Amino acid sequence: MSEQFYTKSVVYQIYIKSFMDSDGDGIGDLKGIVSKLDYLKQLGVDIVWITPFYQSPNHDGGYDISDYQKIGQSYGSMEDFDDLIYKAHQLGLKVILDLVVNHTSNEHPWFQESRSNKENQKRDYYFWRDGRDGKEPNNWGALFGGPAWTLDSKTGQYYLHLFSPSQPDLNWDNENLRQDVYSMMKWWLDKGIDGFRMDVISLISKTAGLPDGEVGTNNYGNSRQWVTNGPKVHDYLREMRNEVLDKYDIVTVGEASGATIDEALKYASVDKSELNMIFQFEHMDLDGGESFKWNDKKINLIELKQCLSKWQTQLFNKAWNSLYWCNHDQPRIVSRLGEEGELREVSAKMLATCIHFMQGTPYIYQGEELGMTNVQFTDVSQLRDLESIDAFHRYTKVERFTEDEMLKMISLKARDNARTPMQWNDKENGGFTQGTPWMDINPNYVQINVEEQLNRLDSVLNYYKNLIELRKSFDIITTGKYELLDKYNPDVYTYIRSTNEEILWVICNFSNQEVTYMNPEYIQEDRSKIILSNYVSRSNTTDTLRPYESKVGIRWVNPNRGKYE
Ligand code: GLC
Repeated sequence: MSEQFYTKSVVYQIYIKSFMDSDGDGIGDLKGIVSKLDYLKQLGVDIVWITPFYQSPNHDGGYDISDYQKIGQSYGSMEDFDDLIYKAHQLGLKVILDLVVNHTSNEHPWFQESRSNKENQKRDYYFWRDGRDGKEPNNWGALFGGPAWTLDSKTGQYYLHLFSPSQPDLNWDNENLRQDVYSMMKWWLDKGIDGFRMDVISLISKTAGLPDGEVGTNNYGNSRQWVTNGPKVHDYLREMRNEVLDKYDIVTVGEASGATIDEALKYASVDKSELNMIFQFEHMDLDGGESFKWNDKKINLIELKQCLSKWQTQLFNKAWNSLYWCNHDQPRIVSRLGEEGELREVSAKMLATCIHFMQGTPYIYQGEELGMTNVQFTDVSQLRDLESIDAFHRYTKVERFTEDEMLKMISLKARDNARTPMQWNDKENGGFTQGTPWMDINPNYVQINVEEQLNRLDSVLNYYKNLIELRKSFDIITTGKYELLDKYNPDVYTYIRSTNEEILWVICNFSNQEVTYMNPEYIQEDRSKIILSNYVSRSNTTDTLRPYESKVGIRWVNPNRGKYE
């Protein structure tokens, strides 16, 4: 992998459980992925990120690992994995895996040993504390709801879990633990994988003393103020860089919720002292986010522009961005910022345009390339995610919301929306499985599916292919300096990317109405070559945009050079 490989790459994220099932048990698997490598190749992506398929009791979709070096039974065997790597590499695709080392499953042998008695060598691999006045050791709430501590009767002490009780947090201050993690990473890298996506890596260093947090609306103290970008996180990542990452030619991306620009400049600095890039969450949190996600707030475009522009300009030449709208933890973007009805395709293409011409490495989450939508959940039994199920019961029980209200918010915000099976064709179960899917497929698979879109030139899928190709053909998409134009326009997102030679401009109408807008002087549509548009017919005006219309043009900076060829 050349030095800058990832700056020119597009990543495709596979949520393995819902991607493709090869053996009819209703759960996606490694062989299923192998059967779709050609699909990924023709799409044009360079790197495939596969979510956890390790041994796990699967309380949190595999993010609760009980053995880092074994394949979970429903996903296949180690031979299947080796075959996947071999075949992906033959096609020129890189494969990165999830590294989940903020916590393990409570079934992991380390935790089993750790809980066995207070003197055990691995006791300190986790956080064990005595209770305080018969209650939890501090007031922290868990990120999935409830307290962040669970009492273990074996030794009468509590253990810390920032997520669910089945996900005890690892203590990174323990050097042996860190060395164990590094050995495990090397083991996978020696098998030939091409890097890691690091789960909640910004949370691994906890402030000494684990002080109480500020009490929020859920009546728990905020743990995030003491664990996000904690005191030693950069030391640990630098150590990991020296001991592991530097020895391999790989790509790394850290999931870093709570990362500010200043933190990102350290995590993802171009000097490569830590990671290659991070996922920041500020733009995803604009409609509620972590403080309390169960609401029906909408993202405001002016705020979104401000946020994304801040990341684009402040990381320029200093650190590298990752670009994303979707992943397995977020609702579907077309339902969130676009539309599900007649304007679904055009809005999905506009959203793709908006993010793909920014600076950074774009991530496409399975089904995003089809414009897959959220689900209208009508009953709690349709949900599979522990977070939404728990929230449903928690908030209806205390009558904060009625069941209908809760289902409505879940249909807008829950992670379940992203996790329905991939829609391959219009046959039973969308071609995902011959068996009964572990989670119901979205009923709209009959209209929205790969097979239908592959051969239709104006499909969302072919639009994504085009976007990926354009990134490869125009260097300015990788290198150009970003500038936001028309920043107070509440409907239109306009930005340019520029080098000394060229200007690339991007105009996106985020509204479902025709809007008039000021065509900024920089753009000079008549002197530009339009390289992409989400409407088939050309608009005959340059001061109105049709619903969700987006267009991208390129022109020379030097007026004497005339029209771009
Ligand atoms: C990350 C994962 C999410 C998981 C959580 C706890 O945010 O993306 O799916 O639930 O970490 O591991």
